[in-house]
Amino acid sequence: MAQLCNYFLLAAAYLAPLLQSGSSTSSGYSNSGSPSDKQKVIELLKSLETGDTKPLSYLNATNFIQHNLALGPGVSGFRAFISALNGTGATINTVRIFQEGNFVFAHSVSSVFGAFVSFDVFRFEGGLIVEHWDNSQANTGPNPSGHTMTDGPTQATDLDKTEQNKALIKDFFDTVFIGGNFSQLQHYFNGNIEIQHNPSIADGLDGLAAGLAAFAAAGRAISYTKVHQIHGEGNFVLVMSEGLLGSQPTGYYDLFRIENGKVAEHWDVIQAIPPQSEWKNPNGKW
Ligand SMILES: *[C@@H]1O[C@H](CO)[C@@H](O)[C@H](O)[C@H]1NC(C)=O
Ligand SMILES: *[C@@H]1O[C@H](CO)[C@@H](O)[C@H](O)[C@H]1NC(C)=O
Ligand SMILES: *[C@@H]1O[C@H](CO)[C@@H](O)[C@H](O)[C@H]1NC(C)=O
Repeated sequence: MAQLCNYFLLAAAYLAPLLQSGSSTSSGYSNSGSPSDKQKVIELLKSLETGDTKPLSYLNATNFIQHNLALGPGVSGFRAFISALNGTGATINTVRIFQEGNFVFAHSVSSVFGAFVSFDVFRFEGGLIVEHWDNSQANTGPNPSGHTMTDGPTQATDLDKTEQNKALIKDFFDTVFIGGNFSQLQHYFNGNIEIQHNPSIADGLDGLAAGLAAFAAAGRAISYTKVHQIHGEGNFVLVMSEGLLGSQPTGYYDLFRIENGKVAEHWDVIQAIPPQSEWKNPNGKW
């Protein structure tokens, strides 16, 4: 435990200077015959593989806000991406998908000019998609504990606990990652039990502390400066936040599985935010 505390202090020391400154179904299908919001998202993502442009009809044609900074604005930007991938052998498979109210969030593995893992978040209005955010990272691993970036449970349970699980994770981020109080870290975990899917970090709190320290020692200290959105379905909660990896402005998407009021499992996707001069749309990352 003494060693654990040293790791926390080390991580806190690296982080401190930067820190000063609904209702849903668990399957993708509705039983009414018309596609559910989750099914629309699965089909839209799959269009990157099939070249099928029909799922573009799930987007609001006049009011679709794209936050993937590599894509052009609106439906035409999405269509151009499908066309660009047509015939390239691109594949995409959604591993887990959740919904809270008007937000659907998906965790997918793809081969799109390289092997990637992505989180995609879609906002619906009147049954149509009006906004999209995402984060992608090269698919590497397995990690030192043998877990891939996407394996593990896929179905939400504890559907009555969405709000309390979101509140737990919000408090965790506000206190530890934004607030910098690493002495509180253990409060959010059940002892040293945590299944870790970050491709370079091992299981457990000691693995997390060692991993954060290793990133910092390599000049790539992980720091969080702002939480933008938190979405949940039952025992799964996704946090979309912004920070620095070393000095690089970075998007962090962290997915947690919560068990008995404690963090039990973690998946993440980390992506550099390009400078504005490289954006293909004016909407920004968030
Ligand atoms: C698309 O979004 C706009 C703005 O919110 C809305 O007025 C319009 O009705 C939507 N279109 C459809 C087909 O729902
Ligand atoms: C994909 O390629 C096929 C065959 O060349 C073509 O028929 C189809 O229109 C293309 N789809 C898109 C979206 O570009
Ligand atoms: C961290 O939390 C503990 C317990 O609530 C508190 O005593 C301490 O002052 C906090 N430290 C910082 C730096 O906020």
